[in-house]
Amino acid sequence: MTRIITFLSGKGGVGKTTISSNVAEALFAAGKKVVVVDANVTTPNLSLHYGLSESGPSLHDVLNGNFNITDVIYKTSSGLPIIPGGLSFNNLKGKIKKSLAKSLIELVGKVDYILIDASAGLGGETQLAVKASDELVIVTNPELPAVTDALKAKKMAEEYRVSLLGVVLNKVTGLDFDLKEDNIREFLELPVLGVVPHDIHVPMSIRERTPVFISYPESKSAKAIKQIVNKITGEELYIPDKEDGPFKKWLKRFLGLE
Ligand SMILES: Nc1ncnc2c1ncn2[C@@H]1O[C@H](COP(=O)(O)OP(=O)(O)O)[C@@H](O)[C@H]1O
Ligand SMILES: [Mg+2]
Repeated sequence: MTRIITFLSGKGGVGKTTISSNVAEALFAAGKKVVVVDANVTTPNLSLHYGLSESGPSLHDVLNGNFNITDVIYKTSSGLPIIPGGLSFNNLKGKIKKSLAKSLIELVGKVDYILIDASAGLGGETQLAVKASDELVIVTNPELPAVTDALKAKKMAEEYRVSLLGVVLNKVTGLDFDLKEDNIREFLELPVLGVVPHDIHVPMSIRERTPVFISYPESKSAKAIKQIVNKITGEELYIPDKEDGPFKKWLKRFLGLE
């Protein structure tokens, strides 16, 4: 069964793209069939997190009826399939011939997860993404403006009757001025799927155009991502080593395992 999960927030800049791109890499590394979609048609940026600078057709061209979803699947450097956003909103306005939900139908049944990185705000583009999904993850920061917008996002999810998996707290500093996890849980009445620290490795990985889960797998944020993925899948994620290090190679040979 394909699970379509959208990451949304209300407020921009809280970390939707960071969380969705890394959750996608983690699922992919664990051998799941996953496609990540940039539903940010006005200001797409998911591709940038992966260092892709595609100039070919994108989701935008699928929504306006010119291409099939299978024509706009690209691969990141790790091999993860990604559907990039689009060009300018003006090109899209009034031209949506196919909803996102309909556009994705061809992938349903073929992959385990379709992860959608929603745009900022709760307007038209975000509604498209919410309508196309079965489940939602709300991303927020431990500060009042982000959390109040998260509550609005939750209300929208309820309106569309999409099930809410929970909330991810991102950029948590642990300092006094952070809203406390318990207070956020109580305010939003949602389970906390994970707490991702404010971590310098995140901007470093964005500069390196490789999600932190891949570029700094030992960082605190990468470890927090793994916890979130465990919560989403309901299983302990096993990520096989891509290649054995010299010691493991030697040990395997020594033990006659290869
Ligand atoms: N856990 C984190 N620690 C430090 N910086 C972060 C973290 N998560 C995101 N950021 C930074 O916040 C900015 C916005 O993140 P992004 O994922 O693009 O947010 P959104 O998609 O919600 O607009 C980026 O510049 C990123 O480097
Ligand atoms: Mg984003």
